[in-house]
Amino acid sequence: MKNDLLLKALVGKPAERPPVWMMRQAGRYLPQYMKLREQYGFFERCQIPELACEITLQPVDIIGVDAAILFSDILVVPQAMGLEVQLIESKGPFLPDPIRTEADFQRLSIPDVHEKLQYVFDAIRLIKKELNDRVPLIGFAGAPWTILCYMVQGKGSKTFDEAKAFCYTRPQLAHQLLQTITDTTIAYLEAQVEAGADVIQIFDSWGGLLGPADFEAISLKYIRQIVNRLKDKVPVIIFAKGAWHALESMAATGAQGLGIDWCISPQTARSLAGNKVTLQGNFDPAKLLSPVAVIKKEVKEMLAAFGGERYIVNLGHGILPNVPVDHARVFVDTVKEWGNSGKNNTHFN
Ligand code: CP3
Repeated sequence: MKNDLLLKALVGKPAERPPVWMMRQAGRYLPQYMKLREQYGFFERCQIPELACEITLQPVDIIGVDAAILFSDILVVPQAMGLEVQLIESKGPFLPDPIRTEADFQRLSIPDVHEKLQYVFDAIRLIKKELNDRVPLIGFAGAPWTILCYMVQGKGSKTFDEAKAFCYTRPQLAHQLLQTITDTTIAYLEAQVEAGADVIQIFDSWGGLLGPADFEAISLKYIRQIVNRLKDKVPVIIFAKGAWHALESMAATGAQGLGIDWCISPQTARSLAGNKVTLQGNFDPAKLLSPVAVIKKEVKEMLAAFGGERYIVNLGHGILPNVPVDHARVFVDTVKEWGNSGKNNTHFN
């Protein structure tokens, strides 16, 4: 691997600087992505390996990030389980037949991932070939709780109240559903690794909607199963947005990395997570809309606060579509310049 900064950071090996990538780095802020978006539907872009490959490589070539992340979506898993998933322009995901009852649950199948999601593994193989070991490739899946949110609510939501009501009123069915998603996700991620993914990230975008006890029972219990099956094959990063209260128990899963959002300070996150795990984050994505000078200053402050070790520079959630490309590049370049300036000799312990 020519640039193995991400892999070094995840196993705690010293390096000249921390790696930098951005969640949702392939997407609507890039004019090159928008061009392909005019010609192909969202799931077409995911399902045609040549397109998924081209889009995955765009931020590596255009922005110079230290890792590629597979272009796909967490919702390909419910799709493979037999649910219809649409992506509606400027509205987001829509599932016309959400899961609400036992009969709905019975409609789902545990898919043969090699049959239903083969296009993902084909894309990974093609991406690995095109990357030619320039940077590592991150594979991913949604956490079972976040997938349940969409399967039950049927669309995006600020509260996911229907998904919660499902868990609170039909706990047995909810746990059956969570376990079915978990089993599918494990098979799916193992196949991503077999196809060549170097690192796996689990996105629990809605983990922060659950209180600590519910997060443990409904989300982390299932994330733990996934981490157990993968962590000795490749490094695993758990990103549970808003679930800072669980950093200690997430670190105890043995996952090599933990993603954090901007609502917790680096110091607090480090003291909760301990020194044996790599932290990833946590720049407020909206701060990339600031003037360039402000971005530079705040990225340097963030680097100083996290220190150069066991740290992956990232945003605290996905990049916004209205971020100027130049600002994304300043974010990445500031990290590279900090590495060159020898200012990274701060240690957290
Ligand atoms: O990070 C990357 O660059 C890889 C690609 C990626 C996408 N979705 C592409 C995408 C990844 C890792 C995801 C994960 C994902 N998808 C999550 C977890 C991360 C997060 O942001 O919380 C979630 C919750 C989803 C579900 C989803 N997909 C939503 C809510 C939306 C609509 C909102 C939006 O940003 O448009 C999508 C669509 C989607 N997934 C787009 C992209 C590039 C936008 C599609 C388009 O309009 O072109």
